[in-house]
Amino acid sequence: MDHYFYPVNDFGPLMKGMVIGGIGIIHVFLAQFAIGGGILLCYFQRLAMSGRNALAREFVDGYFRWLVLISFVLGALTGVSMWFTTIQVGPRTIGLMVDQFHWLWATEWTFFCLEVAAGYAFYRYGTRLTDRTRFSLLATYSFAAWMSLFWINGILSWQLTPAGWLSTHDVWQGMFNPSFWPSLIFRTISSLSEAGLFACLIINFVPHWTREQKASMFNQAFRFLVPMTLMPVVGAWYFGVVPEDSREWVFGESVAMNMFLMISVGASVLIGIYAAVMLINRRMFLNGTTSLLLIVLALAATAGGEFVREGMRKPYTVRNMLYSNSITESEAAELRKKGSVASDPYPLRDEASYPNRQLVVGAKVYRMQCAVCHTEDGANGLLGLTKTWTPEQQRLNIAQLQRTKPFMPPFAGPPEELESLVQWLRWRVAGKPATWKESNDPAVLAKIQAHLDEVGTAPGIAVARTVANPTSP
Ligand code: HEC
Repeated sequence: MDHYFYPVNDFGPLMKGMVIGGIGIIHVFLAQFAIGGGILLCYFQRLAMSGRNALAREFVDGYFRWLVLISFVLGALTGVSMWFTTIQVGPRTIGLMVDQFHWLWATEWTFFCLEVAAGYAFYRYGTRLTDRTRFSLLATYSFAAWMSLFWINGILSWQLTPAGWLSTHDVWQGMFNPSFWPSLIFRTISSLSEAGLFACLIINFVPHWTREQKASMFNQAFRFLVPMTLMPVVGAWYFGVVPEDSREWVFGESVAMNMFLMISVGASVLIGIYAAVMLINRRMFLNGTTSLLLIVLALAATAGGEFVREGMRKPYTVRNMLYSNSITESEAAELRKKGSVASDPYPLRDEASYPNRQLVVGAKVYRMQCAVCHTEDGANGLLGLTKTWTPEQQRLNIAQLQRTKPFMPPFAGPPEELESLVQWLRWRVAGKPATWKESNDPAVLAKIQAHLDEVGTAPGIAVARTVANPTSP
């Protein structure tokens, strides 16, 4: 099997995942608001048409419309920058996704075009149209916006739970994978809640509304937070269908993931309590600062949720198919014989300054197999993580990487590459001295080979089972 080499980008002290995550969180937050905002506009337009609420029309034609427009433009831009960043980090994963799901993507883009057309038409001509047409335009905009979530959600949830697709490669099985529905429902609820919170912020800004008028509008907007009561059920459903090991990391073994989950849950609970109080006490007032604070909490909830979702997939970008470092399980076995960087055509940036060939290989192995999740000495920096270890410890722990941490892929190279990596780590920690002796003691290499053979190339989760019960196959 051929292994592909792609030129990837490096963001210095920032972990690649952090760059994608940072843009991703902003994108998700804006895009979800653009969906929920459209639905909220529909609801207020309906209220205006029913004649029950004289303020509703003013609201629909006011600042909120602007905010939806801005978020939808920024949502689209950050969406594009997401793909632009991900292809610099995980080109193989994105390539696989495009290969498998190009028609779904095309469908998503068609809805996106409809969304743009309907949204812009409303924004530009809304005030001159009849009520019915206004409503139709808003409904078209919202439906199209939600449908783009519908399609993209299929592709994203497939990455974590491809399930039956793994054996059939059937597009529909991939699209409607086990976590499709809970994640779609969860995101829809989040979209509605965000819209309600932003509506409150805008209501505060209408200068000529009285306190009572604003209170009545808050009450309408907060109805969009009622579906949040379903979040615990939908969340439980989601965690019920994700792989068991992912669930275990989130709920215990990984402190970082657990903390982010708690931030997300905690922020949502706070918003929920506030919404309940507002809905029960109809005369209660909400000022601009509090609305902004609630929006920040919603952003924290989104950030925590996205972090957990992305983190849970480790060590894969496509579960059971492609490790995060773009190597498949069967390729890992192959690369242990052939070497992972032997035919890597891309030079290092500062290759001439390396004292010997072995260190160049080591740096390339790091770039190929580790750099997608680690930096050298920044976030999750490898030098820091290994600097207290003896060479023996480094050799063993890296040779059995999936045992060291089950969310890391197995090492995918021969003992020579592993020793190069160890030497590179030691040379870097030593402060890059101008001379460095190559290490090629056959006894050391034989020992590394034994470590590699003993653990094989199975993922950590499978290895954990055999360690717990040594007699099982
Ligand atoms: C899929 C992502 C991923 C890949 C690929 C990956 N790691 Fe890691 N690694 C992690 C995470 C996450 C941690 C946990 C950091 C922590 O616990 O603070 C970690 C921790 C470590 C540690 C510290 C372990 C400990 O118990 O203290 C070492 C050493 C390490 N990685 C080495 C490597 C090497 C060498 C490679 C490449 C051959 C690699 N990793 C590839 C995600 C990855």
